[in-house]
Amino acid sequence: MCYAIPGKITKIDGNIVTLDYFGEERRARNEFYQFALGEYAYAQGGLIVGRIREKEALPALEAWKEVFVKLKEVDRRLAFNPKDLRQTANAERQKHLGNACCVHGIIEFSNYCANNCLYCGIQNSNKKLKRYRMSEEEIVDACDYAVNKLGFKAMVMQSGEDGWYTEEKLINIVSGIRKKCECLLILSIGERSASTYKKFYDLGVRAALLRFETSDEALYTKMRPGHKLQARLNLLRELGRMGYLLMSGFLIGLPGQSEDSIMADIDLTASLGVEMFSFGPFISHPDTPLAKLPSAAMDMALDTIAKARLKYPDAKILATTALESLDKINGLKNALLAGANSLMINVTPPKHQPFYEIYPGHSAKVVDVEKKIEETIALLRSIGRAPADLGI
Ligand code: 5AD
Repeated sequence: MCYAIPGKITKIDGNIVTLDYFGEERRARNEFYQFALGEYAYAQGGLIVGRIREKEALPALEAWKEVFVKLKEVDRRLAFNPKDLRQTANAERQKHLGNACCVHGIIEFSNYCANNCLYCGIQNSNKKLKRYRMSEEEIVDACDYAVNKLGFKAMVMQSGEDGWYTEEKLINIVSGIRKKCECLLILSIGERSASTYKKFYDLGVRAALLRFETSDEALYTKMRPGHKLQARLNLLRELGRMGYLLMSGFLIGLPGQSEDSIMADIDLTASLGVEMFSFGPFISHPDTPLAKLPSAAMDMALDTIAKARLKYPDAKILATTALESLDKINGLKNALLAGANSLMINVTPPKHQPFYEIYPGHSAKVVDVEKKIEETIALLRSIGRAPADLGI
């Protein structure tokens, strides 16, 4: 037997009506009744089977309301039972995407940054950090090496928000890379005007990595003084409309961030229509205002990957290097086993790597790039994953 809850009719489209159940909308076929908007009806099996007058519907709904919300909460808790969550998510990843795992290269070409994001080690006011900028030529050469010697087919070019690289300089860099390297070119340079990004697009850049950091507006402004979440989202949406593949996401474990807020982060990432989810744990950096706060717990980071995978089974989800900072040995592996299916390998020239310290341990032990690639392939092999991006 099914109990039926009265649904309020919010839309009528021929014989399809939309019913609202405490904010959740469902559609049903109406073959027997003449309805006006705002009336109440019972549905079963996707078919309207009864009419109920408002006078009777409202008390029935009142009685259901609390139970409905409570039941949903219990269901959500059980469905996201931490014991099985990651394994279920990994099975889901396997079912929808097979064993392919994207392996992108990343070059961090400047650690200068105009911003003062509270969590970030390369923030402008960290005077302890030794700063570096790679020259245009050095950047193109590093990318050339990664693509043509090491075999990467997708390259992220990342920096702090560094105005030293004018639009003109960046155009030179992008053009230089496009001339020498056949790869998906991904820019991760923070906020620039849409018209600047359009110029890069016209030169062949096809992807942008730009996290929105948190979907909580108040928290965003607190963490990124002087900045507004809306501006970030507007830019991301604009880039999406331009044709950019987007990689975006958030930080897990920021101060005052609730579990619900993280779920909202997952949904916001998906709503941007991203090509790849890129989110990771907050790692406390000693030379930032958040120095005294603990880093995010590994369990929380892995559960977030699993939840994102379960909610968005087809998504590409990056296992970020911040996970390695929490657990050098098993961080990435556990992320891949919790539903992630993408990795990035740092191919920044080794002499610069230690200084791109957005969080401690980011590149604590600079290993030879070729060795790092070998290790990554071995990790993927050990869990049956192929380093491949097979397209959409
Ligand atoms: N811990 C984890 N991730 C960080 N980032 C910056 N600082 C930290 C930190 N302390 C992330 C931000 C940014 C990306 C380049 O690095 O999400 O978007």
